[in-house]
Amino acid sequence: MAITIRSAVESDLSALLSLYGELNPDDEPLAADAAKDIWAAVRHQQGRTVLVAALGDTLAGTADCTVLPNLTRSGRSILFVENVVVAQAHRRRGIGKRLMAAAGQLAASAGCYKIQLLAADGHEAHTFYRACGYQPLAQGFRRYLDENPSCRRRR
Ligand SMILES: CC(C)(COP(=O)(O)OP(=O)(O)OC[C@H]1O[C@@H](n2cnc3c(N)ncnc32)[C@H](O)[C@@H]1OP(=O)(O)O)[C@@H](O)C(=O)NCCC(=O)NCCS
Repeated sequence: MAITIRSAVESDLSALLSLYGELNPDDEPLAADAAKDIWAAVRHQQGRTVLVAALGDTLAGTADCTVLPNLTRSGRSILFVENVVVAQAHRRRGIGKRLMAAAGQLAASAGCYKIQLLAADGHEAHTFYRACGYQPLAQGFRRYLDENPSCRRRR
């Protein structure tokens, strides 16, 4: 069955939560009402596109993209990418690469001058992003704002 890369729609919430469970397995599941409210906020945020890789009725992967309007660099925007995950059962078939290519198209059509992301520690994510054309050109800095140890993982 062919993979389609598209923007997520309202009814994709439960499949997205399942993919995020693979990304951050230590996370407590969100309460249904909270998830619904957050998903509405995400969908209505200007410049935000949650890309999904659909395989029939199944979501095989996702990448969360946000265009940030910007007053430097001649006013050209920046695309940020977060929460990139492909379901274990569908890895190494080029789906991640297609999601990142679609992120690149979003960036180009929004006139962005760069795409920025942080990669998880470790060889696999780094090899993946390099294969998608990304280079480790900056050092990431991060400060966690709560004591919840599950938020302090590598991603
Ligand atoms: C990283 C991830 C998104 C890759 O998705 P994917 O669909 O399997 O990736 P692709 O099939 O498009 O891989 C493209 C290329 O990236 C590299 N790559 C991908 N996964 C790799 C791995 N586990 N080890 C080494 N290289 C890897 C390879 O060069 C691959 O090309 P190849 O299969 O022809 O050798 C997926 O493994 C995943 O969801 N991992 C857990 C979450 C995560 O680490 N997210 C991103 C980091 S923040």
